[in-house]
Amino acid sequence: METLIKMATTIGVFDSGTGGLSVLRELLKAIPDAHYIYYSDNANCPYGDKSPEFVTQRACAISELLMDKGAQLIVVACNTATAAAISTLRAKYSIPFVGMEPAVKPAALGTQSGVIGVLATAGTLKGSLYLDTKQKYNSNVKIIEGVGRGFVELVEEGDLSSAKAEQICRTALQPLLDAGADRIVLGCTHYPFLLSTLRKIAQGYDVTFIDPAPAVAARAAQLLGTEVCACNAKAARPKVELLSSGSTEALERNYLLI
Ligand code: DGL
Repeated sequence: METLIKMATTIGVFDSGTGGLSVLRELLKAIPDAHYIYYSDNANCPYGDKSPEFVTQRACAISELLMDKGAQLIVVACNTATAAAISTLRAKYSIPFVGMEPAVKPAALGTQSGVIGVLATAGTLKGSLYLDTKQKYNSNVKIIEGVGRGFVELVEEGDLSSAKAEQICRTALQPLLDAGADRIVLGCTHYPFLLSTLRKIAQGYDVTFIDPAPAVAARAAQLLGTEVCACNAKAARPKVELLSSGSTEALERNYLLI
């Protein structure tokens, strides 16, 4: 259901950890005049291997906290939480929720090789949101999936480019490259933080990585009835409140990277 909110808006954004900051970066560019509250569920990170019931319970608790703090729209900046909980959130609460879309469509439309890769968590790849999207496109393109095992932990630790980070990224990415994928969907909001390492591994391959965050920010702007502003995220930085269920160390560190 679409809701238009015309006044200055408080936008809640949450993720299992700091990955959703890659979505916040796009929101800050697209909607610079909003007030933002970002919640990292650091005490329960990662969500990827947890049950959909547990993730839904966390998504509801966090949404209620964000609404109590005045959020008028919530961006579920986590593919795993979107897969598990978006329909419950929309059914249970009256404010609009924007979730992460697996960007299979732009990958399928752009591929030249006819092979696309999707990197995501196990939870996202098992969810009906992804499976339904995959079914729409897999008669036209070959879809290869990879679970980014260890990626979330690297991002939370702030290890984005060490030899260990490169090894972990290579383990998930190389099979997709070997299968001929020329479009690779970043299906977890933590993964854009590892983009320079992923690009380094993919050197010599003709491959484009696709991050759905700009489309998610554009959808939030549309729901708020505002034009998407192409601002510089750092120059136009509005007030952002950073909250966490655990330590705020990773959050404060990775916030400086966006
Ligand atoms: N950033 C997340 C996502 O988009 C969470 C991953 C996790 O906690 O395992 O799926």
